[in-house]
Amino acid sequence: MSQQINVGLLGWGTVGTGVTKIFQQNAGLLAQRTGIPLFIKRIADLDLKRDRGITIDTGQLTTRAEEVINDPDIQIIVELIGGIEPAKTLILKALQAGKHVVTANKALLAEHWDEIHSTARKFSQEIYFEASVGGGIPVVQGLNEGLAANRIQAIYGIINGTANYILTEMGRGQSYSSALARAQEKGYAEADPALDVEGGDTMHKLVILASLALGKRVEPQDVHVEGITRITDQDILYAREEFDQQIKLLGIAKQAPEGGIQVRVHPTLIPAEHLLASVQGVYNGIYVVGDSVGATMFYGKGAGEMPTASAVVSDIIFIARSIHMGAAGKVPSVYYHPQKSIDDLKIEPVGELISEYYLRFNVKDEVGVIAKIAGMLGEQGISIASVIQKARHQGNMVPVVIMTYEAREKNVRKALESVDRMPFVMQPTLMIRVEKFDE
Ligand code: HSE
Repeated sequence: MSQQINVGLLGWGTVGTGVTKIFQQNAGLLAQRTGIPLFIKRIADLDLKRDRGITIDTGQLTTRAEEVINDPDIQIIVELIGGIEPAKTLILKALQAGKHVVTANKALLAEHWDEIHSTARKFSQEIYFEASVGGGIPVVQGLNEGLAANRIQAIYGIINGTANYILTEMGRGQSYSSALARAQEKGYAEADPALDVEGGDTMHKLVILASLALGKRVEPQDVHVEGITRITDQDILYAREEFDQQIKLLGIAKQAPEGGIQVRVHPTLIPAEHLLASVQGVYNGIYVVGDSVGATMFYGKGAGEMPTASAVVSDIIFIARSIHMGAAGKVPSVYYHPQKSIDDLKIEPVGELISEYYLRFNVKDEVGVIAKIAGMLGEQGISIASVIQKARHQGNMVPVVIMTYEAREKNVRKALESVDRMPFVMQPTLMIRVEKFDE
């Protein structure tokens, strides 16, 4: 029987560096938790020169990922490269070579869930991915294990730290671009920050959570996605001052009232007193409602070196324990059924959503404009709850904010198409959905 379990890292960036730090700082604790010493035997990265603030035996380092995968002494491969390729090929090779895998790669899991999990099953290897959603928050195992008794009725996730950081800083008077630049400096943002601010990263994470919660595959194309790029500090101010609400980028997967499920990512107005409204800055919060447990909330840092490394190392310990006990690969990492069809899941088209809507019209300040907008909303049966126009001109343009009563989204969209064709409209109307929480 081996005297230690060896780990190989693919990718030594922000999170990989955090993993090596935890191994150095907490070696005794990791051995105690696992029952056997754990050791990072090899690390592959294309850039081995950068100062990472940590000393490593240079014999451990290589630029060739294959060397790490093919090392017969390594039992667990940790993929922290990110993106689809070469990460996908390397993970599949590792599984085929009889290695267990830990990954933080949300994009890869969201896009290729079936292939990754079916390969792990075929080769009787484990794959764990706690760090793929919510950084250091144990929400993946929370859903997969802790809430397994429940039919999950709703998941509402603030699961992109960068977007939440930007919205929080904008609420404190900072500009969108300087908040994004700070998120990049702090290592929260994706290599392509469009994934953060346009909702793609939240979508990837929601796909993972929803697939776990439903035990069936939810696919990226099932999800309606909108980002935060059109939200202004004025919207945040109006939401707070006029409606006692906050604007959050939410990933939502919930049972639809008329049957089926809704899976959507978009900026959302939520009540200021809701627990999710207190999730500020880079923190993430995932509010999960189960039929037996009721409402639960997972909260913590959703990005950054050490929080994300914490999740990666917890997965390594979990697999290493199984290896040590001779149980590794005998129980699949997740329970889910590859045979899913969209019909089976009945994904509700977003047009069928019934919600209240915050609408910001960007119009010329002229007599009769509000009456015309009200008329077009009325034609679609949309009732107005309140209208706000403050003298906050931007040139000749003035924002007019209308809060509607509950309406069906396809009717709101029809009305907005008509309004946006009017000559007095200077910029397309912004629409933000309002979320009411049943529990
Ligand atoms: N860019 C991601 C975020 C990193 O900001 O949340 C963690 O997945």
